[in-house]
Parts: sequence; C-alpha cells; structure tokens
Amino acid sequence: MRTISVDLAGRPYDIRIAAGLLARAGEHVAPFAKGRRVAIVTDANAAIHLPTLTASLDASGVASEAIVLPPGEATKSWAQLAALCDRLLALGVERGDVVVALGGGVIGDLVGFACAILKRGCGFVQVPTTLLAQVDSSVGGKTAINTAAGKNLIGAFHQPALVLIDPEVLATLPPRELAAGYAEVVKYGLIDDAAFFGWCEANGAVLLAGELALQEHAIAHSVEAKARIVAADEFETNGTRALLNLGHTFGHALEAEARFDGSLLHGEAVAAGCALAFRYSARLGLCAASDAERVADHWRSVGLPAGLAGIAASGERLVEHMRHDKKMAAGTLPFLLARGIGTTFLDRSVDLADVAAFLDEERR
Ligand code: NAD
Ligand code: GLY
Repeated sequence: MRTISVDLAGRPYDIRIAAGLLARAGEHVAPFAKGRRVAIVTDANAAIHLPTLTASLDASGVASEAIVLPPGEATKSWAQLAALCDRLLALGVERGDVVVALGGGVIGDLVGFACAILKRGCGFVQVPTTLLAQVDSSVGGKTAINTAAGKNLIGAFHQPALVLIDPEVLATLPPRELAAGYAEVVKYGLIDDAAFFGWCEANGAVLLAGELALQEHAIAHSVEAKARIVAADEFETNGTRALLNLGHTFGHALEAEARFDGSLLHGEAVAAGCALAFRYSARLGLCAASDAERVADHWRSVGLPAGLAGIAASGERLVEHMRHDKKMAAGTLPFLLARGIGTTFLDRSVDLADVAAFLDEERR
C-alpha cells in the first residue's frame, strides 16, 4: 500500500492507495468511527461496490447505514443537500463521527459539503470510485453544490479525515468516464512535470485498456502532485493551487455551452481546454507550436477532444460564459498559459477580445 500524506499545518491526513483496499476499508475506517458506526453515502451506480465496503466494515466491528442517491451532476443540488443533511441528522450523526462518501466527484463534493455544515462540521472519509475523483476531487477539501447560477458556486473548504483509493473499483466504470478522468492525470504532467507527460504518452492507452499496475502508478503520482500543491496553497490564495485549473477556463466555457447535459463530460472539457490553452499560448508566441501539437496528438490517441469538442458557438459567446467564471476579479480573468509542456503559469493580463478572436479562428 502507498500512503501519501497531505501536510496541512495541524491537520494532516492520509491518502492510502492499494488494489483491493476496499475489501480492507473497515480496518482503516474503524479508528475514525468513534461510535463504531458510520453512514455511507453513495449513488446508484457506485453502489455496486457497497456490499464489499459494508462487509469490510462489519468485519471490523463498525455498523453502517447506507444512503443511496441518484447518479449525475443534478445530485449536487440544494434539494439533495437538504435531504441528505436531514437523513444524516435522523441517523444521529455526531460531530465526532465520520460519514463515508463512496462514489465519484458528485458524491464526494456533496457529502463533503454536507459534512462541512452538519453540526458546524463533522468528519468524512472519501472512498472515490471514478478515476477523476481518485486523482483530483477526493483530495484537497474543495466541496460544493451547483445552483441555477452555475456550477460549484456554493461550497466550503472542508478536508476529509482520510482518503482510501482502490484502483480495482475502476473496472466497473464506463470507458468514457475512465478516459475523462485520465485527462486530469495528464494535466499534472502538463502543469509542471514534463517527464510524467512523457510517461502518459508511453502508457496512456494501455492504462485506459484497464492495466491495473499502470493505473495505480498514475493515481499515486497524481495524488502526490495534488497533495504537494494543496499543502502549498490550501485555500487557493497564492497562485499555486490555481495551476490545477489548467484547461478549466476554456473547458468551463465549452461545458456551459453544452449545458452540462452529459454530452461533454468535465474531464473531456478539461482535455479540450488544455489543448486550447496550449494552442493559444503558441499563438501568443509563449510556447512552441510543436508542444501544442504534442498535447493535441496525445488527446487524439486516447479518444479525447483536442479542440472545440464539436461546439459550434462563436468566440464571443464562449467568452461570455468565461465572464461568469467565479475566478473573474475586477474585470480580468486569470488564465493558465504555458511556456511549454511542464511549464504552466498564471497570466492575469489576457485580453478576452483576443481570446474570442482565437476561438473564432479555431472554429474555421
Ligand atoms: P460522477 O461522480 O458523476 O461519476 C461519473 C459517473 O460514474 C456517474 O454516473 C457515477 O454514478 C458513475 N460511477 C462512479 N463510480 C463508478 C464505478 N466505480 N463504476 C461504475 N460507475 C461509477 O463524476 P466524476 O467525474 O467522478 O466527478 C465530477 C464532479 O467532480 C463534478 O461535479 C465536478 O465539479 C467535481 N470536481 C470536484 C473537484 C474538487 O476538487 N472537489 C475537482 C474536480 C471535479
Ligand atoms: N480541482 C481543483 C482544486 O482542487 O483546486
């Protein structure tokens, strides 16, 4: 088993990664389950792994009660948050208890936020079951729900007590979801680790075909990167954590245009967004066109979008979505641009009219 610690002052926590870990989850959760009981929150798809988790908790003397929610982004809502808090209160969850989130980023974000506000804060354990959640959303304590005004606009920073990652659960994940999560893996290479991007070029296709050892390596490498970044900038105030938003400004505009209806998954939008961020950087003369081409080639080689992802909207319309980005401050939008693969930086002087012109060129 690999253990990676998120080194937060006074509140460090472990991320434990091993194939088969779900079947041993009970012994890891038990020390956090003071009352020898936990609530598990999952969705109807991730619930395929619920029997393994509950059996393992039982074997460690921890009683559990499961709450199964509908799958999908719509579950990150005020209504589901309220219903979940009521059910956790009815189960008698106390401040010293932990709630277990078994699922992808939707369940992790919702449960994390519920635990941030329940009795002014109770503990939770993340057991992520998608690749995206294993390499990104389960680590770092960002929790949120969506509202009519946009995604992740209501939330809190609330760190988990423990993260348990079992790559074997990815075997039941639809291939498209696996590929979408892989975009977030590659993102770590693009940010500041050119050697890891090279590793992805060499191993990505086999990893996506289901090779467990490669998946475990990629997850551990990604989590190490995320843990380092979160420890350096827990609340996204000094520019370090913002690097994780590579591809997200372009990506969110594409997702918004696709109306978050499932036709463009978040990870697919991030892949497209990274390709666009590199091509825009090349257009500004910041990075070599060959680097931008390498990024696009890798996405194409694993079936991820390497450009506008079929979105036909005008540049100005896409930029209008960007203007509603929650990172917008005093009329400027910070952009993640690149000087090359592994050298991403935050630029606060990007001209949105120029971005619109670039996107129009991309559409032609
Ligand atoms: P998701 O949670 O919707 O999971 C994707 C699909 O896979 C769902 O249908 C789910 O039911 C299903 N599923 C999950 N595990 C499965 C398994 N093992 N086998 C079969 N099916 C399974 O989506 P996601 O991609 O995991 O997460 C996306 C969410 O994460 C978004 O809401 C996004 O905003 C959020 N996010 C949060 C952070 C953060 O730092 N908190 C970072 C990135 C993304
Ligand atoms: N996924 C971005 C972050 O955790 O900051």
